[in-house]
Amino acid sequence: MRHFETDKPKGPAGNAIGRSFVHESAIKQVAGKAFYIDDKAEDVNSLHAYPVLSTISCGKILSIDTKPALAEAGVIAIYSAKDIPGKNDVSPVFTGDILLAEEVIEFHSQPILLVVAESYQSARIAARKVKIEYETSTPVLDIKEAIAKEHWVRPPHALHRGDAQQSIIDSAHQISGELTVGGQEHFYLEGQVSIASPTEDGGMFIETSSQHPSEVQHLVAKVLNQPFNYVTVEMRRMGGGFGGKETQAAPWACLAAIAAYYTGKKVKIRLARGDDFRSTGKRHPFYNTYQVGFDDDGLISGVDINVNGFCGYSADLSDAIVDRALFHADNAYYYPNAHINGNRCKTNTVSNTAFRGFGGPQGMIVAEQILDDIAYYLGKDPLDIRKLNLYKPGRDLTPYKQKIDQFILKDMIEQVEQESDYWSRMQAIKDFNKTSPIIKKGLSLTPVKFGISFTVQHLNQAGALLVIYSDGSVHVNHGGTEMGQGLNTKIAQIVAQALSIDMKHILVNATRTDKVPNTSPTAASSGTDLNGMAALNAANIIKERLIEFACEHFEVNKDTIQFVDNQLIHDKGKISFAELIQLAYINRISLSATGFYATPEIYYDREKAEGRPFFYYSHGIALSEVEIDLLTGENTLTRVDILHDVGNSINPALDIGQIEGAFIQGMGWLTTEDLRWNEKGELASNAPATYKIPAIGDTPAEFNVKLYDSQNPATTVFKSKAVGEPPFMLGISAWSAIRNAIASITDYKYAPSLNTPATAECILNAVQVAQQWQQKQQQKNQG
Ligand code: MTE
Ligand code: HPA
Ligand code: MOS
Repeated sequence: MRHFETDKPKGPAGNAIGRSFVHESAIKQVAGKAFYIDDKAEDVNSLHAYPVLSTISCGKILSIDTKPALAEAGVIAIYSAKDIPGKNDVSPVFTGDILLAEEVIEFHSQPILLVVAESYQSARIAARKVKIEYETSTPVLDIKEAIAKEHWVRPPHALHRGDAQQSIIDSAHQISGELTVGGQEHFYLEGQVSIASPTEDGGMFIETSSQHPSEVQHLVAKVLNQPFNYVTVEMRRMGGGFGGKETQAAPWACLAAIAAYYTGKKVKIRLARGDDFRSTGKRHPFYNTYQVGFDDDGLISGVDINVNGFCGYSADLSDAIVDRALFHADNAYYYPNAHINGNRCKTNTVSNTAFRGFGGPQGMIVAEQILDDIAYYLGKDPLDIRKLNLYKPGRDLTPYKQKIDQFILKDMIEQVEQESDYWSRMQAIKDFNKTSPIIKKGLSLTPVKFGISFTVQHLNQAGALLVIYSDGSVHVNHGGTEMGQGLNTKIAQIVAQALSIDMKHILVNATRTDKVPNTSPTAASSGTDLNGMAALNAANIIKERLIEFACEHFEVNKDTIQFVDNQLIHDKGKISFAELIQLAYINRISLSATGFYATPEIYYDREKAEGRPFFYYSHGIALSEVEIDLLTGENTLTRVDILHDVGNSINPALDIGQIEGAFIQGMGWLTTEDLRWNEKGELASNAPATYKIPAIGDTPAEFNVKLYDSQNPATTVFKSKAVGEPPFMLGISAWSAIRNAIASITDYKYAPSLNTPATAECILNAVQVAQQWQQKQQQKNQG
């Protein structure tokens, strides 16, 4: 393996941290040499499986006729829920996430049967030929109906501080608002795919595109009614996961395993894109309402917020997702009195799941809406209102009583404000808008404060296996998975730094449940924090052994020993790392170790709704400038300036790539990605033609991304910070800037309501409402 750097190497080996090594898969990806599951060679005997999906959203199965499908050439078998040897349940936390529908149908495109055939084509064609008769009932598709009927997948949970309602009533000003927040399709480039191969010991080997190999192992075992050691899962890389493969890769692996179990052959399952769209969960849409009380300056005294997550038919991860929405409904702002409630609404749609930010974005947008709304109400600049309400470090607690001990956002805002000329640009935009009748510009600066750790305490652990072969080359396995974010590259850098050797000596490849067991999903942005620490722990264990050995062997003092630049130096001389390892091997020193890490200090008491769910926070600032066209509603993001906090960056190029990608994905969520269901509850936007993710042309013409210079005060791996999800929420600045452009129609006196995604159609509607408001205002003034 070769590790390239994007800029000149800095200093000797062992200074791998902070250097921009190229992603370990990048060269292979552009050369077409990076293997994905579907690229694997099939055996002559390999079979293919395809699910039969329901064509109704709610009802009962009356009859199934598989004859026309079985008559299709190459079809081997068709399995139903009755054939599942173990449990027909693939729930990650609770119960109710069903593998194959038994009698009841709860969402459109719910898997009912599995067709197994000699070719992918036959399986897919046959799946469509199964005839199913249903008794249809009226589905609950509207979130407001679910709220009114108290249709929950899990009970509500709320955060409290003081008397929110009283503080709002006692305030000089009160406003309220609501917001419908759209969902989002993951649109990973590689869709859901798994291969199950029976092993000679009567076990099952699974290759899958999953963020959570251990959970796939456990669920395959449960479905087959076998112990966990019956199943081994391997995952080399995903073509993107974004949360969509945290829990929802497992059902497909389980289906492949059932087919392999019965046929004794290797079975592959790969969903066509349209079916992947229809039958896998997405980001939760939300419906949020708020009331806020504040003084003449815009200082908030109390909020009453209600967030309602559109969970779909089952719990999946929705409990934790709505919790994270609650934990981020404050974003960066202090609410002296607060009541923040979260409902988990049950609807007859596919079960929504993790997606970058994990409910955080849907909660955070409420805070940014409130701050903008206060500013327009008082006729003040939104940035001033934001600055006024920021947390004060050392003083403030969040609504869940976590102390804010590091708070750098004030400083970060000031840096962006100055370096990106906020005030002069805002003035120029106001001048421009006065004279431009059709094109209006908008500007907005929004911060992000995102809590890092799984909010489920036990998931905050990781393991690693570090092996040094007798020639000095190193092989690392860890519990995390590579989905494009660069985790394996960062782990290699951490090990290179720990052992003071060149990156070229280190190989990090597939994640395997038989190498590192009982792992957590690679999620919550914690991949490097957790697995990096575990790998560092393993490296330090071996290093200790080597130091002890060197002390004895060379008869030197421990304090004189140093690992530097591929060598071990002691006060009597030096030896190359490779020679040291050979010597250690001959002297029978163990050269492999497992490492472990568990995040300290974190807990959450659900009864009291308080605790320290997060080890620390990651921060960021985005300043977005947009142009909207009042005749068409079209919008263009013309310039974006981002300052983001990754602590001590392990790899600046990877971190900046994550920030750029996350921002664009967040912008897409809020502007163009429009999920639509028809009245039957079938997803209508189920292909790239009807669902628009950002393309290269949507990148802002001027896109400046900078890393904020500060280390993580928490004891993380080399004082770095997690980066995967937090910058997603910087996209909120684009939405807020569009509102700013629309508000210009009313001389910034009216806060336009703008549901998301703010498509051209939505913007045009909001523009018309603002124009009508302005006309009424003028009539009032004249009359
Ligand atoms: N980056 C790429 N290229 N592809 C992905 O699928 N997933 C995101 C983020 N960045 C993702 C990505 C999500 S949802 C998470 S939680 C983190 O990466 C997970 O990886 P990490 O914990 O190693 O940052
Ligand atoms: N984030 C992401 N994934 C998760 C979490 C979380 O907080 N909890 C459980 N799975
Ligand atoms: Mo990321 S949504 O935590 O997989």
